[in-house]
Amino acid sequence: MFERFKSPLSPISIPIFIFFLSYATSAFALTCQVAGGTSDDAPAISAALSSCNNGGTVVLDKTYTIGTVLQAMALNNVAIELSGIIKLSPDISYWKANGVKLTYQSAFTAWTIGGEGIHVYGGGTFNGSGDTWYAAGETGPIPWTIYNAQNVLVENINMVQSPFWHNFIYQSSNVEFNNINLNSIQTDGSQAHNTDGWDIYRSTNISITNSHIVNGDDCVSLKPNSTNVLVQNLYCQGSHGISMGSVGQYAGVQDIIANVLVKNITMVNAKNGARIKAFGGSSSATSTTGGGNGYIQNITFQDFRCEKVGLPIVIDQCYETSTAKCKKYPSKVLINDIHYINVTGTGTKSKEVVSLVCSNVCQGITATGTKLVGASGSAEYVCRNIGSAGSLDFQCENATTSDKSKREE
Ligand SMILES: *[C@@H]1O[C@H](CO)[C@@H](O)[C@H](O)[C@H]1NC(C)=O
Ligand SMILES: *[C@@H]1O[C@H](CO)[C@@H](O)[C@H](O)[C@H]1NC(C)=O
Ligand SMILES: *[C@@H]1O[C@H](CO)[C@@H](O)[C@H](O)[C@H]1NC(C)=O
Ligand SMILES: *[C@@H]1O[C@H](CO)[C@@H](O)[C@H](O)[C@H]1NC(C)=O
Ligand SMILES: *[C@@H]1O[C@H](CO)[C@@H](O)[C@H](O)[C@H]1NC(C)=O
Ligand SMILES: *[C@@H]1O[C@H](CO)[C@@H](O)[C@H](O)[C@H]1NC(C)=O
Ligand SMILES: *[C@@H]1O[C@H](CO)[C@@H](O)[C@H](O)[C@H]1NC(C)=O
Repeated sequence: MFERFKSPLSPISIPIFIFFLSYATSAFALTCQVAGGTSDDAPAISAALSSCNNGGTVVLDKTYTIGTVLQAMALNNVAIELSGIIKLSPDISYWKANGVKLTYQSAFTAWTIGGEGIHVYGGGTFNGSGDTWYAAGETGPIPWTIYNAQNVLVENINMVQSPFWHNFIYQSSNVEFNNINLNSIQTDGSQAHNTDGWDIYRSTNISITNSHIVNGDDCVSLKPNSTNVLVQNLYCQGSHGISMGSVGQYAGVQDIIANVLVKNITMVNAKNGARIKAFGGSSSATSTTGGGNGYIQNITFQDFRCEKVGLPIVIDQCYETSTAKCKKYPSKVLINDIHYINVTGTGTKSKEVVSLVCSNVCQGITATGTKLVGASGSAEYVCRNIGSAGSLDFQCENATTSDKSKREE
């Protein structure tokens, strides 16, 4: 019954980093079953997480409703077996007023998971009841957030109808998501907006692998201060791409995205494929629409297959910044050492398949094995301020100011 506590999980090794998840080996490990079936099972789940903390397993094998915030911030060596169904209550006014606010954009969450040595698994489903929010045109809580946590493994979980981003990794390190199935589309078949698969912020040593994502925003989005990240073996459908950024939004703030490998991705019916976005500069020291500094560096996109993707390869260093403003105030976020290896497939624009538009000079941009065509069957590559056009395996056209309007936001 306590098999997994007798032999700690074998180390998980990943090409770019290795980390260990250590679990308690105590012979007294507890199991905490949660009965479920009430209109708000959050207090019972919270109590079980306390009782079974320090080496136990919380078993969620029934149907549960999370009707109030669940803050589990002091976990230590605990397993959460989700083999049943969790539903978020579709109570818009409650969640808007009481969701746990995260100091990033206007995000808030229903459930914080923090601490050390946390294993979530079990094949069950987390249903965010997103239809209520989609219909109301509102964005709801992030179902759960890995928050100030270390050594976390989340595997074999389904998530449906997320009312906002599905998963947020916030101020955490050594976090792995593996074999996750995300599906958030509106019941009428239209896209569910703002349903990023994963967002990563102020976190390091993160791995997202072997997952299937159907959603209506970024498949994976790396926000400021995401480093040492592996994104591998994903199927992404309907999304806005795998995005580095946006960064550089706030004047005076340094944002870093570095050491990222994105490998073996299938991107289908999406707006973008491999995407990098940084705001332009600003004349104002208190700007909240550009002017931040920092860098995006050492990013590799490899074995990236596109099928009907708006723009398969995009760098935009004037994100949400007008061409004129960006020319006057180039971005202070440097973009260097970006590598595209075997990015292949089809775009949806007539010809344009690559848009590399920098306001500062971007250095060390390389591409090999690029095989992309637009809807017309031919390809056009737009570049501006690329310091290493000779290291690209396609012929770049110099962009003109009118090109900006053609790109997807
Ligand atoms: C990230 O992983 C590396 C390599 O395993 C390790 O040395 C480092 O301590 C980890 N960083 C954190 C913050 O845990
Ligand atoms: C998610 O929950 C909603 C609201 O209860 C329900 O209508 C929907 O069928 C559920 N979706 C799935 C895939 O279980
Ligand atoms: C690439 O990812 C897909 C999942 O999208 C997986 O089925 C396949 O095995 C992976 N290929 C390799 C070589 O790992
Ligand atoms: C990112 O990290 C740098 C260096 O540690 C720090 O100065 C900066 O404030 C961080 N930015 C954010 C948004 O946390
Ligand atoms: C670049 O990032 C990769 C991960 O994609 C990492 O393995 C490598 O060590 C990094 N290189 C440098 C110079 O930091
Ligand atoms: C890129 O694709 C080519 C042709 O399919 C293959 O020979 C090569 O090994 C691939 N390169 C990498 C780094 O995967
Ligand atoms: C782009 O324009 C610059 C300045 O006009 C020129 O020096 C450069 O050679 C052009 N690059 C390409 C690839 O046409």
